[in-house]
Amino acid sequence: MTLLEHTNLAPLSDQLPQRFWTGTSFHAPADYEVDCSPFDMSDADLQPDSELAQLMQRTYGDVGLVVLRNTGLTNPTRMREFAQIIVRQDMTYEGGANPRNRMEGNVYEIGAPLVARLPYHHEMAYLGKSTSLISFLCLDPLSDTGATFVSDGVASTDAILATPLGQKLKDLGVCYHRSLTDAENFIGEVGYGVYNHWQKSFGTEDPAVAQAKAEVLGLIVEWGENRLMQTRYYNPAFEYFAALDRNMLYASLADHGLWFDTWPLVQHLPFRDRPLHMTYGDDSEFTRNELQQFIDVYDEFGTKLDWERGDVAVICNYRFAHGRPGIVLGEGETRKLGVLLGEQFERVGQRNDKW
Ligand SMILES: [Fe+2]
Repeated sequence: MTLLEHTNLAPLSDQLPQRFWTGTSFHAPADYEVDCSPFDMSDADLQPDSELAQLMQRTYGDVGLVVLRNTGLTNPTRMREFAQIIVRQDMTYEGGANPRNRMEGNVYEIGAPLVARLPYHHEMAYLGKSTSLISFLCLDPLSDTGATFVSDGVASTDAILATPLGQKLKDLGVCYHRSLTDAENFIGEVGYGVYNHWQKSFGTEDPAVAQAKAEVLGLIVEWGENRLMQTRYYNPAFEYFAALDRNMLYASLADHGLWFDTWPLVQHLPFRDRPLHMTYGDDSEFTRNELQQFIDVYDEFGTKLDWERGDVAVICNYRFAHGRPGIVLGEGETRKLGVLLGEQFERVGQRNDKW
């Protein structure tokens, strides 16, 4: 057995450390924070020409990231209204790889167990339609853990392009492989090996409808045993971003099978059988060295976002990747973030004149 084959058979969690940052944030809080304590957070502050709205717009435009602090807000509906100063058209979450429950309106719960490590990613990079930004609303923070990390996209793009890994990604693109289970095969069961049912992902009980919806998203669909829905999607690893007139790194290892290394119920499976997996666009696997480099190139430019109750963050999905380490709750602790996505856009992929 070659080393490459071997790495595809065993979880690599212990072997591939992920730090999320260097210990010092790449961006200083002063760059992206807006202190809301001088504002009364009234309806007037929600108007597009208000001082707060303009400060938010300017910060977001400059950095691609804005975090409202000291809002005094606790109601997700109200928090969403402030997010919507930037998020003009929030979207319904459909066809996503991970299950999310609706909190209210288009605010969703984070569709991942807290204990799972969420590697850096650009939201919905594995689809033909992605989202230009993502917003988090902090409802219940933890005192000293539970931070979200964001990684600077310009810096990570430049860094990866300077490596053979980046050049390979540029030349080959990537393929996203997904296996969605059939809910009817798991009625009343714990769901061992289950991540997301196609019924939940596509909002239908009808496999033909699920397939049609998947195909609209550009996925190639095959059905396996027990109505296992297997999809493949080939896409460039970079995405052209008009606002900066350049290609940005858009693929990440959150879509690789190693995402499930710390995930209950599926962490025992070999990569190829896990619910999500990512290969190069010629279906070849990343080597272990390439996986580690890919992790490091995001970690190197990480910024730590600590949460306080009422915080509203809006993150440009081109200019930043986001992720977090696994979280273990202490007794009586909760951590609750709402998530809002928008606006949706058709991926154009990389432009060869824009490196
Ligand atoms: Fe995410």
